[in-house]
Amino acid sequence: AKIHDQSLTRGNGGELHQVAEGGTARLTTAQGAPVADDQNSLKLGQRGPTLLEDFHFREKIFHFDHERIPERVVHARGYGAHGYFETYRSLSQYTRADVFQRAGEKTPAFVRFSTVAGSKGSFDLPRDVRGFAVKIYTKEGNWDLVGNNIPVFFIQDAIKFPDVIHAVKPEPDRAFPQAQSAHDNFWDFISLTPESMHMVMWVMSDRAIPRSFRFMQGFGVHTFRFLDSEDKSTFVKFIWKPKLSMQSVVWNEAVKINGADPDFHRRDLWEAIQTGNFPEWELCVQLFDQAFADQFDFDVLDPTKLIPEEVLEPIPVGRLVLDRMPDNFFAETEQVAFMTQNVPPGIDFSNDPLLQGRNFSYLDTQLKRLGSTNFTHLPINAPKCPFAHFQQDGHMAMRNPVGRANYQPNSWGEGPREDPARGFRSYREDVEAPKVRLRAESFADHYSQARQFYISQTGPEQRHIAMALTFELSKCENPSIRERMVSHLLNIDEGLGAAVAGRLGIGRLPKPADAAVAPRKDLPPSPALSIVRN
Ligand code: HEM
Repeated sequence: AKIHDQSLTRGNGGELHQVAEGGTARLTTAQGAPVADDQNSLKLGQRGPTLLEDFHFREKIFHFDHERIPERVVHARGYGAHGYFETYRSLSQYTRADVFQRAGEKTPAFVRFSTVAGSKGSFDLPRDVRGFAVKIYTKEGNWDLVGNNIPVFFIQDAIKFPDVIHAVKPEPDRAFPQAQSAHDNFWDFISLTPESMHMVMWVMSDRAIPRSFRFMQGFGVHTFRFLDSEDKSTFVKFIWKPKLSMQSVVWNEAVKINGADPDFHRRDLWEAIQTGNFPEWELCVQLFDQAFADQFDFDVLDPTKLIPEEVLEPIPVGRLVLDRMPDNFFAETEQVAFMTQNVPPGIDFSNDPLLQGRNFSYLDTQLKRLGSTNFTHLPINAPKCPFAHFQQDGHMAMRNPVGRANYQPNSWGEGPREDPARGFRSYREDVEAPKVRLRAESFADHYSQARQFYISQTGPEQRHIAMALTFELSKCENPSIRERMVSHLLNIDEGLGAAVAGRLGIGRLPKPADAAVAPRKDLPPSPALSIVRN
């Protein structure tokens, strides 16, 4: 880098001043007043007290004092990059979403990868789920696919989200562990929540310690809907597949890397993009209809289940390329506001109760974190297509309705109008049912897919799972939590349960946990659920 050492002058205390000359900009206050001296506050005499009158000093310190905003309540530690999404083919047969109409079209995108449990200053390689949040700035509004690198989730209903997150985050009295799942509260909650078993198998696998963001898959997790021009619905699941294949580190490597370079993943992405090695993912879709969904004995609305790729092949429909780092981490990566409810016309939600809850949560949390209803005015969050509405005022409003009319209908011929033909329409679903707090019986099988994932792993991968479980549960001080976990593992795979019990020194195996639905032992291994190692 070029070193700028010209224009240096010395003040009367020997301090160095860099003064505006030639091409350099003139330092000003935030109000634009040119600053003559940025090294010394205004004092009464050379050794006297500092004067309140020094507006430059006060503005500078005031602004510094307010630099921090709340970190995300989850996924606090993340790293983002710009790029584009390019379609391979038109999907107009399934969806009227503008982004999928024309083959070869490129649409700008921003992606933020993250860990879930650790704080903003934690390290990059804890055993944890990774967020894979994509904002695509389509010509009909921003589409946020707020996914993870694991295709299923811990819980089936959003009402449980505060519980699972409280349990995984530092314990409230001691404020540790900061970024690891290995502790009593986490395993207590998990062992009391059988629906989490499938996700837990993924989290104990090598998927939870990825080599870098560039070697991770991403999943939209929930079942969504595509709606065509006639509003005909096709269910869709979204999967991002890395061009570089999938790779993970092993636990010993993760531990060392965290100590030696806590920024390992962000440095990797920065260096790859700065040297022109642009990472790429293919967007694949699994498309199906209600009749197909009805064949399964699990529910496609249940976010703890996936549709194995052998049963329904994912079709590549486009690629995501990341080719530019943000100019400023805070302005872009920290202030980007992803929200599952950001969908353009042609994409719609299913009734997955986790997705329904998320659609409420993200708007609420962005207001808390970014502090103003006008967070969509920030450049990273603003749509890149024309937009017009009557929302006005509020903190930090940068755009307000122009003219007299800030409502509609109006007689002045002013302002935007609805567009029934092209605007967003929800799927017209017939629903008639009692208002209840119940979970469908079709959500009750918590072990079969956990087992299917485990038996799909190679020998070394299975050993890694057993070792991870042993390590994690060995950190649990409470023996009954360990035993309760082993009773679940016995429902997933007897060999796994017995191996973990043996390593934990549990002499007599507990009874397998009561299962609302007996685990299916006949599901075949699913090759797509194994890690591809290079
Ligand atoms: C943040 C994914 C479930 C609430 C995030 C982020 C991702 C993500 C990737 C980080 C976004 C970013 O990089 O800025 C997921 C996935 C879920 C899930 C895949 C399940 C399938 C939930 C649920 C809730 C929730 C059930 C609440 C009911 C939040 C909140 C944030 C967040 C409050 C912080 C948002 C922010 O401050 O920007 N989630 N999440 N998530 N998620 Fe989720």
